[in-house]
Amino acid sequence: MSLSAETLVLVKPARLYLAAYVDALQRGWCADTVREEAAAEELAQIERDPDVFLARLDDPHAKGPPVRLPDGSVSPRLPGFHRWLWDGAFCGMINFRWSPGTPALPPTCPGHIGYSIVPWKRGRGYATAALARMLPEARAVGLPYVELVTDTANVASQRVITANGGVLVERFTRPKELGCADALRFRIAL
Ligand SMILES: CC(C)(COP(=O)(O)OP(=O)(O)OC[C@H]1O[C@@H](n2cnc3c(N)ncnc32)[C@H](O)[C@@H]1OP(=O)(O)O)[C@@H](O)C(=O)NCCC(=O)NCCS
Repeated sequence: MSLSAETLVLVKPARLYLAAYVDALQRGWCADTVREEAAAEELAQIERDPDVFLARLDDPHAKGPPVRLPDGSVSPRLPGFHRWLWDGAFCGMINFRWSPGTPALPPTCPGHIGYSIVPWKRGRGYATAALARMLPEARAVGLPYVELVTDTANVASQRVITANGGVLVERFTRPKELGCADALRFRIAL
């Protein structure tokens, strides 16, 4: 792990970091890379009610509204929470969601853990470090393993997963709600 990854912390999304998050959205980054309108929607939500926006990012009891999928359909929200990566500046996000009492996920949920690093902070080991720090949270809700899904061409994300003990389970086709592309499913034992 690089020296800069050692200075990285995962923080609960909060007002203190919100201006930096907004700046990242305005610079063209968005955790949701599938829905083009996602960044504009988030900026509008933050403008409307920042506290509601922040509360939705920390939702271990699934109180938020249903999740909007890339094809426009909706799916029930799972319990989950986001953490922001911070090294003195905003670096990206990682999120974790789960189905209570089972490691199984609905087919429309692309894995237990997702992450995205802002382009100007990539290649420093941040995603690898963030995933390592999220695994104890998954263990704490009782999961025996987590699954992560990547595009077949996303070699950087695959290296992040294998560096954390991930093993390839299968190549599969995403459901139609998620666009039908081929993807890889990995599993990390906890
Ligand atoms: C994938 C992503 C999260 C990686 O973040 P990061 O902080 O740069 O990742 P790290 O620095 O921890 O490690 C990346 C690993 O991939 C490698 N890598 C980076 N870019 C690469 C590329 N284009 N091709 C191949 N390997 C690459 C790095 O060398 C490193 O491997 P190593 O530790 O064996 O040297 C980041 O590129 C990103 O946010 N992408 C867009 C969103 C995304 O794809 N999220 C994952 C969805 S499954």
